Amino acid sequence: MKNIVVLVSGGGTNLQALIDAQNQGIIKSGKITCVISSNPGAYALERAKNNNIDTAVIRRKDYSEFSEYDKALAQLLVSKNADLVVLAGFMTILGHQVISQFENKMINIHPALIPSFCGEGYYGLKVHEEALKKGVKISGATTHFVTEECDGGPIIMQRAIDIKNDDTPQTLQRRIMENIEWKILPLSVELFCSDKIKVVENKTIISE
Ligand code: GAR
Repeated sequence: MKNIVVLVSGGGTNLQALIDAQNQGIIKSGKITCVISSNPGAYALERAKNNNIDTAVIRRKDYSEFSEYDKALAQLLVSKNADLVVLAGFMTILGHQVISQFENKMINIHPALIPSFCGEGYYGLKVHEEALKKGVKISGATTHFVTEECDGGPIIMQRAIDIKNDDTPQTLQRRIMENIEWKILPLSVELFCSDKIKVVENKTIISE
């Protein structure tokens, strides 16, 4: 059984999807043992507490140097015995110490079809605004391992939906969350926890 630590910053609907998947037995080879937030007011922390999951808060602004913050977060994750770190709407940039400590052991969910609408500055609603501005006909979500290239690590799962003529960033965001993110994130976590993902040259090979 792997220890899963989830990093959050906001509402935590993806965290909730992970908790629900654990309760439903979709995630059965790992257990969410801690939720760490970059924001003490994040509703995601309430979701963790309601499910008796240990919580912690670490804020970038409490450290004058980025390298100090990076080191503190890496130490916190190690102290929680994380086998897998999941970024579920975590909005703070990660540094070398955290990323190298958890190479191919850290999964992010991004609300677009990477390599479209990703990289620095593309987060939350902004991703969907840009997709609609471009006029793409499909969008979706991607799970991937985290590397030092922002949103550039090995892709684990992707799914797409059609864009509608009357979509707004908000309706598109909601449809992608409900139909894709809340499904592929738990599935990707279970694939990792059951040792079904192999990384070869920045690509994943998934065994069924
Ligand atoms: C989700 O849509 C997630 O994909 C996105 O933020 C939202 C968090 O919602 N993440 C990013 O944009 C990362 N670049 P949640 O707090 O309700 O899970």
